[in-house]
Amino acid sequence: MNDLIETLLSRSARNIKPSPIREILHVIRQPGMISFAGGMPDPDIFPVAQFYEASSIIAREGKDILQYGTTEGYPPLKDFLSTWNTPKMGRKIQPDEILITTGSSQVIDLLSWALLDEGDYVVCEEPTFLGATGTMHNHGAKFLTVPCDEDGMMVDLLPDIIEKAISEGKKIKFIYTIVNFHNPLGCDLSLDRRKKLLAIAKEYGIVILEDDPYGHLRFEGEDVPSIFSMDRDGLVIFACSFSKILAPGTRVAWCAGNRDLIRKMAIFKQGIDTCTSVVAQSIVYEYCRLGHLEAFLPKIIEHYRKKRDQMEAALNTHLPLDKISWLKPKGGFFYWMTTAPGIPADKLLQRALEKKVAFVLGNAFYPTGVGGTNNFRMCFTFASPEMTETGIVRLGEAIREMI
Ligand SMILES: Cc1ncc(COP(=O)(O)O)c(C=O)c1O
Repeated sequence: MNDLIETLLSRSARNIKPSPIREILHVIRQPGMISFAGGMPDPDIFPVAQFYEASSIIAREGKDILQYGTTEGYPPLKDFLSTWNTPKMGRKIQPDEILITTGSSQVIDLLSWALLDEGDYVVCEEPTFLGATGTMHNHGAKFLTVPCDEDGMMVDLLPDIIEKAISEGKKIKFIYTIVNFHNPLGCDLSLDRRKKLLAIAKEYGIVILEDDPYGHLRFEGEDVPSIFSMDRDGLVIFACSFSKILAPGTRVAWCAGNRDLIRKMAIFKQGIDTCTSVVAQSIVYEYCRLGHLEAFLPKIIEHYRKKRDQMEAALNTHLPLDKISWLKPKGGFFYWMTTAPGIPADKLLQRALEKKVAFVLGNAFYPTGVGGTNNFRMCFTFASPEMTETGIVRLGEAIREMI
């Protein structure tokens, strides 16, 4: 880097970490590469015609839509969300409890602006979504991590972790949890643990960021009530997004929660992007108003269930089952794989890349940087059925070569 620029960099810029997924993007994009790496929807299922139909709103409302919008969000979309979300939220949330954001990534950023001072602590699952902890890290956050099993965060361990941190003078601001079809673990946080987590947050006066971009993509089993729906104290900020249930290119997402906190987040948003694209919000709104979202959800669930089943069959057929294990996800986008001792994930990735198969190393999802050496994450939604079959055959070969 240019010496002058280096001396001018902010402390944040010196400490900023690039995303490991973005870093290997040039590898993933090589011709012939089969990628299970990015958490991407299947472009073949994007509702292009319906979205195009919804864009006709520009002809009717163009004079409003092409103007700057309110920071809090396009009012008709907020009204839609306040009704549509009622089953998940346990009550009809009011428009002033909602903030429309530019991706739910921005919810994480805005909440970090609102709550974090340099050196404050965030409690999170380990492993967890690296985009979230990366953003929090950029705000100076430190992490208290809680291990997970097939029911999500092992919440019973949390009081001791919090007590110890408090005795060491650490300030804990919020708990970050991905409640449904966890990224990267694929598991759900059980109802019992959701209740306990809320009780702990209340006891210690900590906010919860309940991040739920995958909750609408359930292939089997019953929906588990959101933590937000059980909260009577305004401690939970609930985040959801159109990225996985419609299209990430819209960059339209939302959060709901405590009015005062939402207001503070909106003020930060004013200075960041003024408002989320009104063009995008209005087309998403029109798409929903025309009933396309309700029609699309069952279709996409069926589509992804088939992809999950195909991946599951391929894994069982082509991998040496004594050397690798996984939990079959009941929804969402991801498989979390565990390799046997002697098959470290980084060495396996090297071999896999030579065979033109990509995945994300488990270690990338550990905010402390320690752990996940025998794990990796695979996304089952993106690759075509043929690619999935071929990719898993090659992965099986790579593992056998290491035995
Ligand atoms: C758990 C989780 N939260 C948030 C996001 C961000 O989604 P977006 O900014 O596209 O809404 C993702 C994306 O992969 C995610 O997996």
